[in-house]
Amino acid sequence: MKVVIIGTGYVGLPTGVGLAELGHDVICVDKDENKINILQSGKVILYEDGLEDLLVKNFNSGKIKFTSSMHNAVSDADVVFLAVGTPPHPVTKEADLQYIFAAAEELAPWVKNGAIVAVKSTVPVGTGDKVESLIKEVNPASNIDVISVPEFLREGYAVRDFFNPDRIIIGTDSPRVKKIMAELYVFFADKTEILYVKRRSAETIKYASNAFLATKIHYINEMADFCEQSGADIRDVAKGMGLDKRIGNKFLNPGPGFGGSCFPKDTMAMAYMARQFNVNLSLIEDVIRGNQERKKRMAQKILKSVENIKSPKIAVWGLAFKEGTDDCRESPAMEIVQELLKSNANIVAYDPKAMDNAKRILGDKIEYASDMYSALQDADVLAILTEWPVFRTPDFDKMARLMKGKSIVDCRNMLDDKRLVPGFVYYGIGF
Ligand code: UDX
Repeated sequence: MKVVIIGTGYVGLPTGVGLAELGHDVICVDKDENKINILQSGKVILYEDGLEDLLVKNFNSGKIKFTSSMHNAVSDADVVFLAVGTPPHPVTKEADLQYIFAAAEELAPWVKNGAIVAVKSTVPVGTGDKVESLIKEVNPASNIDVISVPEFLREGYAVRDFFNPDRIIIGTDSPRVKKIMAELYVFFADKTEILYVKRRSAETIKYASNAFLATKIHYINEMADFCEQSGADIRDVAKGMGLDKRIGNKFLNPGPGFGGSCFPKDTMAMAYMARQFNVNLSLIEDVIRGNQERKKRMAQKILKSVENIKSPKIAVWGLAFKEGTDDCRESPAMEIVQELLKSNANIVAYDPKAMDNAKRILGDKIEYASDMYSALQDADVLAILTEWPVFRTPDFDKMARLMKGKSIVDCRNMLDDKRLVPGFVYYGIGF
């Protein structure tokens, strides 16, 4: 089938590459010509495991193309996916839909009759209706279906998640569209549940899922606080809870708070929508507030470990919002570092993938180390902020030789404290 993806970010690009790999003819459209030029040279501008190889393979075979020209791309498409950003409005925090509406307006005159416009970006309930009427307004003769196909890819695992989704949600009532989408996703037919629901339900499933997962993380973080005071160990408590299949063992890792481009934004958008609909979602409001406060408390915990040192040197391992990605958007590490900078601490940081993105946010306010060990030179404390696997089994003897102080504040509970060499003082989360 002929598929167009509008937007080549963390959602659009893996989706386009994945659909090309499944045999569809894909054209990815982006307004940013510089981005398109880079993609045409077989490179990706974001780090996503396995994406570049698959992109080059499908680009060379002609299954995926890149362009900044909307009208050439969409005029022949069977399905056009909208995968542009929906950043939070700076004041109200509602999802900003200007890019969605601009893309819908731009494609409207060119899209062929019978085509499907599938909204993949995370958008408030009712956006599908607005996109549909906008297209009709620009092109009254058009006969297209607007559907909602929310995306659940995790950053860092986008390629893996594309080929192994837990479910595919398709928001449409049209039997004709269901048939076409079943053909598009035929590869998944006997592998995963394809759930057809009405458009507004599909839009809600995305927000309800992300808000639930964010709540689960916030819950385990609060339980970690409880364990610290009560003498329990959250590592055992989480394991014990997770053995109950109704609870499940995923998303029970306490940490410095959730970050990234989805959970913080989607919880705020969900809360905003609830206020608009006059519905009480105080639980989500609490989760948002608690998650913001958490990052400040993590910074205080780190500073407390060096409270007797006048101008402490703090080594930071990890700047990305989680392992497996170079993304620093809403990264707890970014906010913790900004908080630490309010003290008179000097910070040296290292991240395996996110240094460039971090530099764009933090500039020269901190130093950047070329590897994890050189960050430790003369450090008074090490703060682990992102759970990169390489941090899990460090050379403790080498660390002891390099560091001046011997404190480790492990905000991800990564290290096995029983392996620590004598002299280190280890502070984890929730024990
Ligand atoms: C999330 C959703 O998982 C995905 O389905 C959706 O499409 C996009 O948003 P992503 O933002 O890539 O994906 O990250 P995810 O792996 O879900 O983690 C989000 C945040 O929660 C990270 O900051 C992570 O470190 C944190 N987290 C996650 C925890 O603190 N503890 C956990 O147990 C799990």
